[in-house]
Amino acid sequence: MDTFLIQGGRPLAGEVAVSGAKNSALPALAAALLTAEPVVLERIPAVRDIGTMESLLKHIGAGVAVDGGTVTIEAGKLNEPEAPYDLVKTMRASSLVLGPLVGRTGRARVSMPGGCAIGARPINLHVSALEQLGARISQAHGYIQAEAPGGLRGSLVHFDRITVTGTEDVLMAAVLADGETVIENAAREPEVSDLAALLTKMGAKIEGAGTSTITVKGVAKLHGARHAIIPDRIEAGTFLIAGAMTRGDLRIMNCEPAHLHALVARMRQGGAEIVEEGPNALRVRAARRLEAADITTEEYPGFATDLQAQYMAMMTAANGISFITETIFENRFMHALELMRMGATIRIEGRQAIVAGVPALTGAQVIASDLRASASLVLAGLVAQGETVVDRVYHIDRGYERIEEKLRGAGAGIERRGQAAAGKA
Ligand code: EPU
Repeated sequence: MDTFLIQGGRPLAGEVAVSGAKNSALPALAAALLTAEPVVLERIPAVRDIGTMESLLKHIGAGVAVDGGTVTIEAGKLNEPEAPYDLVKTMRASSLVLGPLVGRTGRARVSMPGGCAIGARPINLHVSALEQLGARISQAHGYIQAEAPGGLRGSLVHFDRITVTGTEDVLMAAVLADGETVIENAAREPEVSDLAALLTKMGAKIEGAGTSTITVKGVAKLHGARHAIIPDRIEAGTFLIAGAMTRGDLRIMNCEPAHLHALVARMRQGGAEIVEEGPNALRVRAARRLEAADITTEEYPGFATDLQAQYMAMMTAANGISFITETIFENRFMHALELMRMGATIRIEGRQAIVAGVPALTGAQVIASDLRASASLVLAGLVAQGETVVDRVYHIDRGYERIEEKLRGAGAGIERRGQAAAGKA
């Protein structure tokens, strides 16, 4: 198992480039199941979750050709409309094939996701939305079975709670349904809009993506398309935080500043200087220690839960006390305990973490528990005194493309040790 060895205390400087968004690439790959023609996706990040989704598409019978960041999927003939347990257990987002499979083939069998490190995360909302489109759903042997032999029919779908992949799943089901679907209380995340942009290129009729009401007019057939995935706003945000925490001067290239307003506003409040340089770059500078500023995670355009752990790492070394409130997931503070091993002062009270900034963190051996938690430990390591060893970095490899190389390019003291480093993985 790989580990990261980090020597703290080096300010980041220069440039770092952002990859395509993992959480946009995953539904885009699943959307390719909706047509028999080739779908060509550009800027697909080389991260582990993408590899898992590609394996899943192959299992279902699609051809998948990877050429650098360009992936071509050809789902001419599907053999197995099924997401098996072995794949779903390593990645919950496998449930994204449910909607397109029922939409295209009239049936799907998807393993139910179990618990995960950041909470219970059921898929009941996906299921009830598909039922509203006329799918018959049953559960047995740990699988969800969906059937719509006569095809899905357009309907009003109201989500009781905002769900990102739930919105994406039902959107993909609705594009081939008979008639009009209105999705209310839809997620407004940029990844949903990106999926709608791809589906529109494939011939779908969608209005309102990016707002909380999406209207879909079903079409009989979709065709092939070429689409470039949006930049990863969570990776960009992680680099912004890295630049400010290390009191560096860092340019974040190939990003979409409009997707980062909530984070940028908070960081400016804390004293970081962040300016837009051109349409796709942000420059972050912090000449002194940041001041503490509170955050509450919310659905987009609020503060992203996927940046909460990284923000907490920044607050552990800020001046003052900050309140961090997590409203999206019930158990997303696992990183706090590890940050405390590095000298952070944090008290958890239910869904709130109270962080009292300390003048300096100290390097320690820590364990990554999930993707964003691992990123927060790497960030803490970049400013801690001495050496930090982050164990189980396979979590970070699920969603960050070569993060150690990117950070090293900006002057960080970080190295990978283990199998992948030796070229065996
Ligand atoms: N929820 C339900 N039932 C459902 C679906 C969701 O109760 O059927 C609950 C969840 O348990 C959670 C809340 O609703 O408490 C919101 O979850 P959501 O469905 O929006 O999350 P998701 O779609 O499973 C995506 C991202 C996550 C990100 C969340 C929130 C992808 C592939 N994953 O998950 O990304 O944290 O939205 O923004 O898009 C990550 O990249 O590290 C990551 C976890």
